[in-house]
Amino acid sequence: MTITVKALTEHIGGEVTGVQLNQPLSADMIEAINDAMNQYGMLVFRNQPLTQSEQIQLARSFGPLDMGLKKLKVRKDRLDHPELADLSNVTDDATGVVERTHKKIVGNIANQMWHSDSSFQRPGACYSMLSAVRVPADGGDTEYTDLRAAYDALPDSLKSEIADLQAEHYVLHSRFLLGDDDYTEEQKNVIPPVLWPMVRVHPGSGRKVLFVSAHARAIDGMTIAEGRMLLMDLLEHATQPQFRYRHHWQPNDLVMWDNRATLHRGRRFNLNQVRELRRATTLDINAPELTAVERELAHA
Ligand SMILES: [Fe+2]
Repeated sequence: MTITVKALTEHIGGEVTGVQLNQPLSADMIEAINDAMNQYGMLVFRNQPLTQSEQIQLARSFGPLDMGLKKLKVRKDRLDHPELADLSNVTDDATGVVERTHKKIVGNIANQMWHSDSSFQRPGACYSMLSAVRVPADGGDTEYTDLRAAYDALPDSLKSEIADLQAEHYVLHSRFLLGDDDYTEEQKNVIPPVLWPMVRVHPGSGRKVLFVSAHARAIDGMTIAEGRMLLMDLLEHATQPQFRYRHHWQPNDLVMWDNRATLHRGRRFNLNQVRELRRATTLDINAPELTAVERELAHA
């Protein structure tokens, strides 16, 4: 038995049937999902109830797991596994929603800016797997955009202008934009800024990617103003409706996306309503841009 994939839009997204993700996946199934990911950039799997352990097991079958923002230790974990990111607005005992001033709410809001998970570190993220536990009655969708289609649609002059540029990505840039700057010097320095080429090649499809994100705060070799304006223009280009898919969550949806080829953002919702999702993410340990030392560390 193999999976069936139905395209969701012209450029991005496939809805998958024919697999139960709470069971260990065969090598053939992993290959089939990887192939679909390389084509569609993001995949939707409906009706996939997953325990926290099952979600970890699923994610591990695609690679070593990423800790991302958790390295900052801003707040203590509610979930059983440190590799699971708690994308929720619920209290530790999950019986209610937290105050609007709670640290995790600013995280919810920062996720509403277009980004690629963990682009602020090397290695960055490969696949993110987001599982919906409880969702609000309305709002709180997640949108995705395809950075390969976005690159293809750039005018040739812009393609050559950015061909050899690198952007600086920093973990707290989007937080600072939201006025969330209450971090110790130690927290600010736990994950130093990193450079990524603005044009990368997506290994699974061989296609070029316009690698922009809300985490990018400067372009190497440009003034802050010129670099930031170009980043904003490119982000606007990359997120035009024709490159996008909007996901309306149902409980037990599992959505998987390739952070090397797509961006995503959450959408506004009523913070008084429960929205509870969990994310597990693999590291992009085979990124061609990694140095020999970085690769060795990542594979250790
Ligand atoms: Fe994200």
